Amino acid sequence: MQMRWLLAVMLCAGTAILSGTASAAGDPDAGKSQSVVCAACHGQDGASPIDPSYAMLAGQNEKYLMRQLQMFQSGERYAQLMVGQLNGKSEQDLADLAAYYASLPAKVSQADSDDETLARAEAIYRGGILGKKVAACSGCHAPGGGGNAPAGFPRVGGQSAAYTINQLTAYREGQRKTDEIYGAMMRGVASRLTDTEIAELAAYLQGLY
Ligand code: HEC
Ligand code: HEC
Repeated sequence: MQMRWLLAVMLCAGTAILSGTASAAGDPDAGKSQSVVCAACHGQDGASPIDPSYAMLAGQNEKYLMRQLQMFQSGERYAQLMVGQLNGKSEQDLADLAAYYASLPAKVSQADSDDETLARAEAIYRGGILGKKVAACSGCHAPGGGGNAPAGFPRVGGQSAAYTINQLTAYREGQRKTDEIYGAMMRGVASRLTDTEIAELAAYLQGLY
């Protein structure tokens, strides 16, 4: 039953992706020259944000990054500190930035928790929670947390726990709705997670690669 649901969701996602807007190929070098202002918050290497709740960008897949940049620019995704950062940028500029951050090596972090907590989180990540119809995260984000680049499913491994907690909570509370084209799959998953499960998953993901 759960598997069928997951497949249905993934098929919907596939359709949405095929009908999505095609974008220009990005040029990492052109992206780099625009990234000086971004580095002030996301770090020189895109992987050492000045605050752990500011996302790590290095090694994230290009398709996912491009979509998020478009949505920050249009206001579809809201984050106070990102407001205005992309003003005046063309589609090509956004594509260049996405290509640049995707080209940087992802940073390997350490899981910041005890073994028992990590084992509980790993069980959810790999197997979901059957009783609550929470689908296995690994089905979309890959067993190593690297995501699914062709589908634009984000890398979640190595991401800082503070950022992940904020995102899962925002999906759960319906504040982040950027999963609309994927049939609201993340809001569905997150709506059934408790604060504790979110915190444990986030601690686990920080060390996953
Ligand atoms: C003043 C600080 C600041 C600056 C400057 C800034 N960002 Fe951000 N950025 C943030 C914060 C904070 C978040 C997390 C938003 C959230 O919690 O939803 C974020 C999130 C992102 C994300 C989403 C990551 C994900 O995994 O979904 C992308 C992509 C991004 N920024 C790209 C950029 C780019 C490109 C620039 C430069 C043009 C830039 N940012 C400049 C603070 C900043
Ligand atoms: C059916 C596929 C699917 C499943 C299952 C799934 N995700 Fe996702 N996840 C996605 C997609 C697609 C996005 C990007 C949606 C968007 O654009 O907002 C996403 C986004 C995220 C993000 C935000 C990433 C960022 O950089 O901002 C986190 C964190 C996340 N998922 C964690 C999880 C966890 C933890 C689980 C399991 C409890 C899970 N996901 C299950 C597909 C899935």
